[in-house]
Amino acid sequence: MPAIVIVGAQWGDEGKGKIVDLLAEHAGLVVRYGGGPNAGHTLVIGDERLVLRLVPSGVLHPHTTPLLGHGMVINLGSLLEELDALDKRGIDATRRLIIAEQAHVILPHHILLDGLRESAATGTKLGTTRRGVGPCYEDKTGRRGVRVGDLRHPEQLRMRVREALANATAMIESLGGTVPDAAAVLEELLVLAPRIVPMLGDVPARIEAALRKGERVMLEGAQGTMLDIDHGTYPYVTSSSATAGGACTGAGVGPTRIDRVLGITKAYTTRVGEGPFPTELHDADGERLRTIGHEYGSVTGRPRRTGWLDLPALRHARRVNGLDALTMTKLDVLRGFDTIPVCVAYETPDGRSDDAPPTSLAGVTPIYERRPGWSEDISGCRTLASLPRNVRAYLEFVEERTELSVDLVSVGPRREETIVVRDSWIRGERAG
Ligand code: IMP
Repeated sequence: MPAIVIVGAQWGDEGKGKIVDLLAEHAGLVVRYGGGPNAGHTLVIGDERLVLRLVPSGVLHPHTTPLLGHGMVINLGSLLEELDALDKRGIDATRRLIIAEQAHVILPHHILLDGLRESAATGTKLGTTRRGVGPCYEDKTGRRGVRVGDLRHPEQLRMRVREALANATAMIESLGGTVPDAAAVLEELLVLAPRIVPMLGDVPARIEAALRKGERVMLEGAQGTMLDIDHGTYPYVTSSSATAGGACTGAGVGPTRIDRVLGITKAYTTRVGEGPFPTELHDADGERLRTIGHEYGSVTGRPRRTGWLDLPALRHARRVNGLDALTMTKLDVLRGFDTIPVCVAYETPDGRSDDAPPTSLAGVTPIYERRPGWSEDISGCRTLASLPRNVRAYLEFVEERTELSVDLVSVGPRREETIVVRDSWIRGERAG
């Protein structure tokens, strides 16, 4: 049984949670490798909706061990709340969860700074989720962060909290904020420590052991390729490696151990927050995608920006993630359009480009091809053959232009509302 990476091929919110949940049925370990509570995976189980921000989506399967890799930034209070909510629903996550000692802790000044910067009159407004994710990664790379493992050593913790706060003081004050009291921050962490410390563990060692036993390991990406710190629309990105490579560094698993990478894309495109979005719609069609697709942020409730499918962006995702195949989600939402424009290339200041320009998407204009729409309700379809002809043609068009097969198709939010085109992803077989 191989290790597989599930990664967002767009700007996040592609529906990774549902797919990870589906694929985790045969997994031993499910690992989050990056990001923090900026993510929100909405799962629909029976009639219940559950939003997970930190705990991997595969947790709903009782035999899986969920792990939080050291590429993550964790708000410990939020994590415990999430675990309590799961426990209340009869999902015993607390006893199974393993947290990497090296994951970083989101502290109050991270959240404060995130909000102050977003509200400041000057500087680039990114439209962050204001969960302190960016400032926490700044402290990590600045080598003054607090790691979850520091909770084991109160003296070291005290020193590190003081150091991080001292560094942030001038910045917070210049933005008109009040620096959190170090003693209070430390006290809060020490109160949480007795529940957190027993969950600490060696994530790379657990992954290696699982792979040796032949268990399936799923590495669950957060956000999406176009929000990746290196490969996204910088500076309008998140602060972590949301692409497949992030799984290696953020979970501690070498590239030779990863067997396959599955990219998740919606049948159209959405984006939350600021930044370029070539196929964005500002008309009734965009509103319709938002309404029918329930496109509101699961963390912040913000209306998502909506637009048509962007194939150059997907080809970029194929390249930088080494995608083996795609899963297309929310195909049911496209019902009822006479024709569906799909962006096949961009008009750039230097002429037509079939690829996403390496520097910025700002200033490009999409070149569309219109595909025939459909009026049928496809949410009951469970096989490719049962899909209306134009739906199949839409899928085939995407396959041809991305040079990727669409191996799974989601036609509704529930687990069962899925067309499994190639079931090796579900059965967990090794590639080729
Ligand atoms: P941050 O990650 O909160 O710093 O936000 C940076 C950018 O990434 C903003 O545009 C956010 O809206 C976006 N973002 C962060 N996490 C997610 C996510 O899980 N889904 C979609 N957008 C996200």
